Amino acid sequence: MIDAFYHFLEKLGYAHAIHPPLTHMPIGLVVAALAFTGMAWLFRQPRLAVTARHCLILALIFLFPTALAGYMDWQYFYAGAWLTIFKIKLALSGTLLVLLVLSLILSRKEAARYGVLLPLYILCFLTVVVLGYLGGQLALGERCPEVLSTEHSVGAEIFRVNCSGCHPHGGNIFDPKLPLSGGPQLADPDTFLAFVRKPLRPDGSRGQMPAFAPDKISDAQMRDLYEYIVTVFKTPKRSPQ
Ligand code: HEC
Repeated sequence: MIDAFYHFLEKLGYAHAIHPPLTHMPIGLVVAALAFTGMAWLFRQPRLAVTARHCLILALIFLFPTALAGYMDWQYFYAGAWLTIFKIKLALSGTLLVLLVLSLILSRKEAARYGVLLPLYILCFLTVVVLGYLGGQLALGERCPEVLSTEHSVGAEIFRVNCSGCHPHGGNIFDPKLPLSGGPQLADPDTFLAFVRKPLRPDGSRGQMPAFAPDKISDAQMRDLYEYIVTVFKTPKRSPQ
């Protein structure tokens, strides 16, 4: 279902993650709410506090599609891997939801203003800042080197969708000591295939990389992927252990 949705977007010409553009809405609105409350308090303008409350209502509404898009991107580009950064992002989104609802309930009462609200709005702000920072870490700009020859376009596409999230530029954002580009698993197509079907760390233990079954990437697609990777990311630097 999720795959079909992204394939549909790609047909329309949109081939990126959908969560990042949506995040501007809740983040911008939380920043606006804090700014308006600050000004309301500073200049004794209670009407601005009402504006702040309206911004928070919109932030709460937009939180839902933004979180849903985050979940879908995570499933599609990171194979739903249960990594710390996603756990933190999930926990922070839950925290933001609670903080927004609390702020909205409290801002209904005249008496609760400023003393309680200002710190609450600041907490909402800090939550979106950390969420945005972690999102920035995931989106490290251009992830897949362009290959000019159309020969590897199939492999490039498989790489972009399945691997580039965690291995931008052939690196490894979750385990920088084990970049894709230097891996001994790239020695030949069979070693590569065996690894991607059942990834293990150099010591033989199960790591964080998700396994890719044939229904996700077929053997033929794996060969295209392998050709693309060895063309753009070169050959092994480390020897097999
Ligand atoms: C959710 C993140 C994630 C995705 C998606 C992912 N990997 Fe990995 N990959 C890792 C991690 C983390 C490691 C380090 C070993 C471990 O913890 O499993 C790794 C290790 C590797 C290595 C070994 C590097 C070394 O130096 O030992 C190769 C090769 C590799 N990945 C290829 C791929 C390919 C090809 C894809 C796409 C089909 C892919 N990975 C998708 C996270 C990911």
